[in-house]
Amino acid sequence: MCGIVAYIGNKQAQPIVIKGLKRLEYRGYDSTGISYFDEDVLHTLKTAGKVSDLQAILTNTPENGATIALGHTRWATHGVPNDVNAHPQTSNSGNLVIVHNGIIENYASLKKELQYRGFTFQSDTDTEVLINLIQDVQDKEKVKLGKAVQIALSQVVGAYAIVVFDRQKPNELVAARLGSPLAIGIGENEFFVASDATPFVEYTKNVIYLEEEHLAIIRRNKAIKIRKIKDDLEVEPYVEKLQLSLEKIQKGGYDHFMLKEIFEQPTAIKDTLRGRLLSQEGVITLSSLREHENRFLKAKRILIVACGTSWHAGLVAEYLIEDFTRIPVEVEYASEFRYRNPIIYPDDVVISISQSGETADTIAAINIAKEKGAFVYGICNVVGSTISRITDTGCYTHAGPEIGVASTKAFTTQITVIALIGLYLGKANGTLSRSQYQEYVIELESLPDKVESIFASQSYIKQVAASFETSQNCIYLGRGYNFPVALEGALKLKEISYIHAEGYPAAEMKHGPIALIDKEMPVVVIATKKGYYEKVVSNIQEIKSREGRIIAIVSKGDIQVKELADYCIEIPDSSESFVPILSTIPLQLLSYFIAVKRGCNVDQPRNLAKSVTVE
Ligand code: AGP
Repeated sequence: MCGIVAYIGNKQAQPIVIKGLKRLEYRGYDSTGISYFDEDVLHTLKTAGKVSDLQAILTNTPENGATIALGHTRWATHGVPNDVNAHPQTSNSGNLVIVHNGIIENYASLKKELQYRGFTFQSDTDTEVLINLIQDVQDKEKVKLGKAVQIALSQVVGAYAIVVFDRQKPNELVAARLGSPLAIGIGENEFFVASDATPFVEYTKNVIYLEEEHLAIIRRNKAIKIRKIKDDLEVEPYVEKLQLSLEKIQKGGYDHFMLKEIFEQPTAIKDTLRGRLLSQEGVITLSSLREHENRFLKAKRILIVACGTSWHAGLVAEYLIEDFTRIPVEVEYASEFRYRNPIIYPDDVVISISQSGETADTIAAINIAKEKGAFVYGICNVVGSTISRITDTGCYTHAGPEIGVASTKAFTTQITVIALIGLYLGKANGTLSRSQYQEYVIELESLPDKVESIFASQSYIKQVAASFETSQNCIYLGRGYNFPVALEGALKLKEISYIHAEGYPAAEMKHGPIALIDKEMPVVVIATKKGYYEKVVSNIQEIKSREGRIIAIVSKGDIQVKELADYCIEIPDSSESFVPILSTIPLQLLSYFIAVKRGCNVDQPRNLAKSVTVE
């Protein structure tokens, strides 16, 4: 996710764009830049860091009266965050600049083609490929900018929201979108283009939310023209009235970033799979695995190091990778691993999992593994983070910025990457049959829709939450793949609502925790159909006979558990190995609504930081 702001009108453009970028920093903040056209000169200033760093650079440049500008705050997906990879990106001619939010999946083949025709590239970005593709079309077809953008986009596979400027046509901006949002603000003789409406909310209440695969030609003092990219039809712009407050818009209309991030999960999982899963062809493309396939296939053991929620994803990985590949997997808390003189063999593969890529304990564990000669694979969300740089290779989750301290979309996208790895290796070493592999691949693609369908239970989950608002303790139980989910559910509840919560494997109840059950004790049981359903039903009966209050997460159409539990939240059926991606969603919502009811600071719980960079 990145933030885009552009302005064309009669005001000084630079301050409007900078202020707008600051409002969009929730979308990404690892590097930033601006282009403005002043007295026939196109100026582009870029820097790694936040918008305030760009502002500091701008204060040292002469005042300018530019009335057209475009800016970007980046969340890196291709290339580390640095000045060169920051946007705007410029075409070889120096005439075209672009800001882009999204991922061009076929950028490598397009780049090769352009290089063959003499284009050169300064950055590692897919965006620089796109702007040169637009220039190439312009050069060859001798068409106007809008048409050139349209032709170029029809060759692109992936997701984009873009704004393009051509210094030879200084009174025009071209904007287009597919898969990433763009809002166009319409003021008095002025237009704004941005990733959401926050950058222009004080200037105009008239907004066009650009539709999927639409392109807008925005000319100074002229009416906006909108065209469909594919079938080249002109469409009537649909102007809406903005009604949201500034704060709400930054959170996409949600009350908290955590809630927004919970609801982003279908898209985040799609982004994780984008370009890596071709379900019809039955192909998984993970270049990091393909290049190092032998390291994995020859490994006697895979060790996973992580902390917190990422460690819970590691536990899911243990079950899944062992099931799919029969390679033994061990999961370690990075904070323990680093201090306990672990045995590591040179032919071990170590997988580190981290949302931030900056967790100090995980970094230390990686360094130990490397010192002992192991091959280290990193699963990270933040592009260019320390872990992504110090690991031998790895894979980004592409979940977009996670701002709420409580991890949500990071967890489900980490498991998605793990599923890709498990399937890839299972196929490569023959432990998954062709038909099993194909079934899993197809199911993986259906997960975003299944996650989406769970949101229909939102108001019911809110009601359930209201009954547990005053609880002091809570137990979470699950078996097999749902055991890590029980741990994760308990962690979510304690960190944002300050209710003491513990997760256990359901069968461990009888070894102690069952003593805690009485009519005051809420027990959340994950009792989905596949796996150890009958056993979990027995565990529920044990709780019931001790008067515990049962909240059950069940598969759609369940009958048995519904007769026993006080509350049942249904999720779609899925194979056992993918169930954590679904069963965790109601638990995230439950914690969220309980915390809100208790008046807690959901996005910034006490004593916690988003990334723990100290020991
Ligand atoms: C989970 O909600 C927490 N924010 C925390 O446990 C987190 O998962 C842990 O600190 C690890 O962070 P990382 O994924 O950025 O390494």
